[in-house]
Amino acid sequence: MSLNILNTTETMSVETFEFLSHLTEARLGIRMPFSKKGMLESRLCKRMKALQCGTYDQYAQRLRDDLQEFLHFTDAITTNKTDFFREQEHFELLTSAVIPQILPLLHQQQLRVWSAASSSGEEPYTLAIVLNEFFREHTQECQGQNPLFSVFATDVSQAMVAHGRKGVYSESSFASIPSTFQSQYFNRSVSHNPITYRVKPSLRQRVRFQCLNLMDASYALAHRYHVIFCRNVLIYFKRETQHQVLRRLVQYLVPGGFLFLGHAESLAGHNLPLENWGSAVYRKQL
Ligand SMILES: C[S@@+](CC[C@H](N)C(=O)[O-])C[C@H]1O[C@@H](n2cnc3c(N)ncnc32)[C@H](O)[C@@H]1O
Repeated sequence: MSLNILNTTETMSVETFEFLSHLTEARLGIRMPFSKKGMLESRLCKRMKALQCGTYDQYAQRLRDDLQEFLHFTDAITTNKTDFFREQEHFELLTSAVIPQILPLLHQQQLRVWSAASSSGEEPYTLAIVLNEFFREHTQECQGQNPLFSVFATDVSQAMVAHGRKGVYSESSFASIPSTFQSQYFNRSVSHNPITYRVKPSLRQRVRFQCLNLMDASYALAHRYHVIFCRNVLIYFKRETQHQVLRRLVQYLVPGGFLFLGHAESLAGHNLPLENWGSAVYRKQL
């Protein structure tokens, strides 16, 4: 066996773990306590094999020497768990109560929604489906506004952004989409084994994907948003980091706009100009 192939019995030294853990928290905001060392080791294995890196120390050196490697490191260590229609009550609340509050604020502009940790795209495409359904049912009230909405989808992982942009999903992921929407918004691949499903172009063109690190203090967006979904990412950050990230998000909400967090997340004690509006749903003061 080549000396460069990872010895799978090797464990990461404490020094290397501390370097990687510090890098992860400083650059991505993600807390990496010592209890996650085993998880970090296993998540890095595939990338180290691809690079023919024999030890974690060698890999850490590679990260120091090659700035581009941090992008692959990010892809490897982020937790990207997501689903179509995840925490479904949020999508119901969005169309039944939130959008009707926002329509009077639009003044002929299109509705802009931002999915701020969009993983592989299931959340922003779910948003596009429910918004498309809403506007189809309410065309009379919304005449003259075309296109009626757009979804901006961002994530720190470039692999996740590429996945979302492509819009191709496995059968198990597809199964969580209500059957009425499956054939309406997806094409079944005829040539792939296993079977895959691709978001139809008419829906894909509603969603724009971009790499964005919520920890970047200087990110600048061209617009403010009527609705921001930032779900199931703040849980990975320490409180102070959550506060910085939330303050920047609030700047990108229009007055009267809505912020949705994950059900395990809350703004309690953060002192931001937002009112509690529902379960993990907040409204920016008008
Ligand atoms: C568990 S997924 C949540 C996806 C989706 N919002 C949902 O609720 O199903 C968390 C996502 O946050 C992303 N993430 C982690 N740190 C980030 C950061 N600093 N900036 C932007 N995205 C980040 C990860 O890459 C991952 O795709």
